[in-house]
Amino acid sequence: MFCVAIDGPAAAGKGTISRAVAQHFGFAHLDTGLLYRAVGAKTMAGVPAIKAALALMPGDLDNPDLRGPEVAQAASKVAVIPEVRAALVDFQRAFARRSGGAVMDGRDIGTVICPRAEAKLFVTASAEVRAKRRFQELAAKGLANSLDEVLVDVKARDDRDMNRAEAPLRPADDAVLIDTSELNIQEAVDMAIHVVTERGAG
Ligand code: CDP
Repeated sequence: MFCVAIDGPAAAGKGTISRAVAQHFGFAHLDTGLLYRAVGAKTMAGVPAIKAALALMPGDLDNPDLRGPEVAQAASKVAVIPEVRAALVDFQRAFARRSGGAVMDGRDIGTVICPRAEAKLFVTASAEVRAKRRFQELAAKGLANSLDEVLVDVKARDDRDMNRAEAPLRPADDAVLIDTSELNIQEAVDMAIHVVTERGAG
C-alpha cells in the first residue's frame, strides 16, 4: 500500500498532476472532488444533501455534466455539511488502502482522509492563474461564460473551502508545497514525481 495525497484549492492543477503521478507509478487515481460534485448535482435535482451522500453509487461519478461551474458551487455548499463528509469517508479510506497504490486528490486527503499518507503534496497557484486555466478548460467544453465569472466562482469556493469548520482546506504539516503559477504542466508533474519518488514509491 502506498497513498499519495494531493490537496489544494480549485483549479490548481491537482487533477493533471494526480493523473500523471498515478500513471507513472501504476497507481489507481481517485478525484475525490467528483464525490462532492455528484452529491451537489443531486441537490440541484432536489434530493436532500445527506440523503444523496448516503445513497451515492460509483456510477453517479461517470457524468460529464459534473465538471460544470454550477455543480462546483453546489459541491462546495454540500461539502460544509459534516454528515455529508462523514458519509463519504469509508469509501475514500478503502480506496487509500488498496493494495496497488493510490493517488487521491481533494481538499482534506492529507489532513483527514489519509493523515498517514506516504507522500503529501499541496498544489497551489494564484487565483488569477487558476481562473485562467479553468476558464480555458471549461470554454473548450462550452461550459464557461467569461473569465471574470470563473474567477468569482474560484474565489467563492476557496473562501468556503478554507473557512468551513469541518475539514477545512489547508496544507498538512508534512505536505510539500508546489506552486504551479510559473510552471508548465511538465515541470509541475516532474516536481511531483520527484517528491513521491523520494518518499519511497516505485
Ligand atoms: O476541480 P476543482 O479543484 O475545481 O474542484 P473539485 O476538486 O472537483 O472539488 C469541488 C468541491 O468539492 C470543492 O470546492 C470542495 O468544496 C469540495 N471538496 C471537498 O470538500 N473535499 C474534497 N476532498 C474534495 C472536494
